[in-house]
Amino acid sequence: MTEVVIVSDAAAGGELAARAVLAALDTRPDAVLGLATGSTPLPVYRALAELIGRERRDVSRVGAFALDEYVGLPADHPQSYRSYVAREVTGPLGLDPRLVHVPDGDPERARTAGEEYERAIEAAGGVDVQLLGIGTDGHLGFNEPGSSFASRTRVKTLTERTRRDNARFFTTPDEVPLHCVTQGLGTILRARHLLLLAFGASKAPAIAAAVEGPLTASHPASAVQLHPHATVIVDEPAASRL
Ligand code: GLP
Repeated sequence: MTEVVIVSDAAAGGELAARAVLAALDTRPDAVLGLATGSTPLPVYRALAELIGRERRDVSRVGAFALDEYVGLPADHPQSYRSYVAREVTGPLGLDPRLVHVPDGDPERARTAGEEYERAIEAAGGVDVQLLGIGTDGHLGFNEPGSSFASRTRVKTLTERTRRDNARFFTTPDEVPLHCVTQGLGTILRARHLLLLAFGASKAPAIAAAVEGPLTASHPASAVQLHPHATVIVDEPAASRL
């Protein structure tokens, strides 16, 4: 079932998502979080860091798996998702870095990185709560339009639109990598609870198609409709086309 929650702003959405993550920790101290990158989940990570500190939560056994990684950026590049996760999640939340995973974007190893990543997720017991942002073209992780609903972690080519959308994080548009390793839609759908967040009017068409549109590989985020427990957290502008 897809539940839509409209919140007053991104900070309120972040707090709501953080509470859902903590609820998973209540039932399983070794819960596994699915991490999204980009600007959307930042308020979630801020709220989580705050609540974990305030409530003195023990997160020493919490595991985490990022959705995706660019292929070909040096791991210590500030825009690699490995750097993002260390900077925005592992450090501020106080997670054990040994339990935090990001797909291997090294060009030499990317081809086999997918299978290894799937095995690691399985070995950790699967993802309990998966945070998701959404691309303006409806991508989840880096599953661009045309991705199979059954897909697993693999190398994908980024679309021009996504490279343009993400160019704001880089010095020049040409610096945005051409390829990525991303969990598949099938991988994402195996998580026990999906939390899809979107803020701002630019996401309104993508959210409407994800929640109310037909199930179609042309709009990868429509896959959330197949999930038995999906929560969509949006502000008024992102909900404006629903
Ligand atoms: C990026 C990421 C996605 C993210 C999306 C939206 O390319 N790979 O996981 O959800 O695009 O990004 P933002 O939240 O910055 O709008």
